[in-house]
Amino acid sequence: MAKKLFIKTYGCQMNVYDSARMADVLAPLGYEPVDAPDGADMVILNTCHIREKAAEKVFSELGRLRSLKELKQADGGMIIAVAGCVAQAEGEEILRRAPSVDIVLGPQTYHRLPEMVARAARAGGGVLDTDFPVEPKFDHLPEMHAPRGIGAFLTIQEGCDKFCSFCVVPYTRGAEFSRPVAAVEAEARQLVAQGTREITLLGQNVNAYSGEGPDGRPWGLARLAWRLAEIDGLVGIRYTTSHPRDMDDALIAAHGDLPALMPFLHLPVQSGSDRILAAMNRKHTADDYRRIVDRLRAVRPDIAMASDFIVGFPEESDADFAETMRLVRDIGFASAYSFKYSARPGTPAASKRYGHVDEAVKAERLAELQALLDQQQDAFNRACEGRVLPVLLDRRGRRDGQLVGRSPFMQAVHVDAPDAWLGTVVDVAVTGRTTHGLTGEVAAATGTALPAGRVHAREALAG
Ligand code: 5AD
Ligand code: SF4
Repeated sequence: MAKKLFIKTYGCQMNVYDSARMADVLAPLGYEPVDAPDGADMVILNTCHIREKAAEKVFSELGRLRSLKELKQADGGMIIAVAGCVAQAEGEEILRRAPSVDIVLGPQTYHRLPEMVARAARAGGGVLDTDFPVEPKFDHLPEMHAPRGIGAFLTIQEGCDKFCSFCVVPYTRGAEFSRPVAAVEAEARQLVAQGTREITLLGQNVNAYSGEGPDGRPWGLARLAWRLAEIDGLVGIRYTTSHPRDMDDALIAAHGDLPALMPFLHLPVQSGSDRILAAMNRKHTADDYRRIVDRLRAVRPDIAMASDFIVGFPEESDADFAETMRLVRDIGFASAYSFKYSARPGTPAASKRYGHVDEAVKAERLAELQALLDQQQDAFNRACEGRVLPVLLDRRGRRDGQLVGRSPFMQAVHVDAPDAWLGTVVDVAVTGRTTHGLTGEVAAATGTALPAGRVHAREALAG
């Protein structure tokens, strides 16, 4: 009989991908994913350490799981595993503080899960594997077990060598590593064969991608994207998340020349103050960022920009914050995430003894920044009203007869359409807005020019 596997995913899209891969790894052992932890044979918490309180959240979740584990004791037991970046950072501490945990594993070792499960069963728990193995996990992952969906993630690069002074990623995910082009292409082809139409290439620093090409030389992200765009049935390619320093000429040019590359780019800038950017060890200025966006808009005028911001980094003055607000006004973002700076253990910024910004000031700045970013997002969405956008219908809506898709600019678009149109790109006349997206009507008869290779619903139906 199938064993029940419940995976709870925190944090970034890379964790979403990792969770799916962990399910693949465990499938041959008879584990089938379920939606709730009650009665599960195995529970994995795939954790995130990027911002504050991550570890505390995990410990309180483990507290809740303990009673479920006790209930399951008489019925085969429940294996509890903590994976991801909190596991990498806290390691042994988790086993010590939460004895109900059987396995602690880092992001680079989950290909060894079957072995860990066997060891946990033999020893009654206490398994810790937070190595950075020399053999990359990707070489040991099995084929995909279940289809990933119409829009799917594909990790092509992992780790980070940038060492921004606030960030734990270089410590939890390790050094930069790029998967070879052939491996990425094989996985992409498999995804498309299973129904995926749009792929988001993932990496902590995805545009630093430098994987071994079929010619034995390193290929950059642009070249990889051109290669993947040749896959029949793949209508869209995105990538996230990027560093301004790695926006090279070829990648910028691809935004103009490669139709499959979607006109939306998440390019975190973090701050608009050169002084703070230097203290953050970002290795670029605010004007460098402005220039990159100018160049992108020169080749792709409708490209929508997104970013991440941190307010209240040590020593950030009112004047520094004003520079951030100025940058936001200059660029105009379609969407953005913004955070209060939080000191992460082990990072250079956390060891600064002086210059810490008051929590109240951080909160004020965050509210001010978020109000501006919300206003910009709203203005961006409003500007889409009355336009016809090509929309990839990728999931069912709440109502019967409703489908939800994504616009080229990553907005959710709600339309009335039959299920048979899932996985196709349709032209949608945008008629209104919801809190987080757009509503519209399928205007299948319109002749909006679509990038080559895109599949219209009407063509799909005719074929
Ligand atoms: N404090 C606040 N925000 C942070 N981020 C990363 N580290 C920290 C930190 N110590 C934010 C950055 C990054 C996003 C993923 O999380 O904005 O781009
Ligand atoms: Fe962290 Fe900077 Fe690397 Fe991004 S580029 S993962 S913020 S160190």
